Amino acid sequence: MAQRSRQRMAAGNWKMNTDYAEGRDLILQIIDGLQPTDVQVVLAPPFIQLRNADNLTRGVSNLNIAAQNCHQETHGAYTGEVSAAMVRSTGARYVILGHSERREYFGEDDELLSKKVQAALEQQLCPIFCCGEKLEEREADNHRATVEAQLEQGLFAAVPSEQWPQVTIAYEPVWAIGTGKTATPAQAQDMHSFIRSLVKKAYGEELAEQTTRLDGGSVKPANAADLFQQEDVDGGLVGGASLKAGDFIAIVKALEASLSEA
Ligand code: PGA
Repeated sequence: MAQRSRQRMAAGNWKMNTDYAEGRDLILQIIDGLQPTDVQVVLAPPFIQLRNADNLTRGVSNLNIAAQNCHQETHGAYTGEVSAAMVRSTGARYVILGHSERREYFGEDDELLSKKVQAALEQQLCPIFCCGEKLEEREADNHRATVEAQLEQGLFAAVPSEQWPQVTIAYEPVWAIGTGKTATPAQAQDMHSFIRSLVKKAYGEELAEQTTRLDGGSVKPANAADLFQQEDVDGGLVGGASLKAGDFIAIVKALEASLSEA
């Protein structure tokens, strides 16, 4: 089989965790444990740490910073919000959009997310777009239809072909996020191959082959290697385990090891 040309990525979504000093220590430990690395490592600390995180990681190869969200407008009277342009000005290169917690707790729907994706791309930020079904949708065998609608309305509607190479997709079944339950490697592979077919339908085979797809939902050192061996899984979006330097480093090492097995 042809060598996979897609970029491999391990992204740590810190969510609303770590104060300034804790964030700095975590980044320094990760830099220490991971130099050099062959995969793309992305760290998503809270907004107020972005600038410092970028400073700490500047010049460190394959280590980039992401925001966990951005607003769809460039500026204005939106108290408490942070625009894509502001994120970009910190040096961050990525932004996570459409995370299930944003959808669930902040009412973000696919129409809004498509605007956020456009706002991010206008600022040369690379979106890591999250999709995934809830437990009841999986039990009703609606997981494919759910993910298809999320991608079509939230992502494909917003991204022209020429900007598609900036996009990373993260599939995270909601029932696996923060619950300790993981999709089996077979379930993950099934959905990532389905997502590849959707990208192919929308953007053609070549771009579909190049699209990095991350798996998420309770990724940890114990299950990372099995997930990363799946043909259509190019890495992970890691929540809880990204807050412990040792666990996150072990996950990145599992991804590096999967490179030689591909
Ligand atoms: P988890 O979170 O690894 O803690 O399940 C993943 C995510 O929400 O991105």
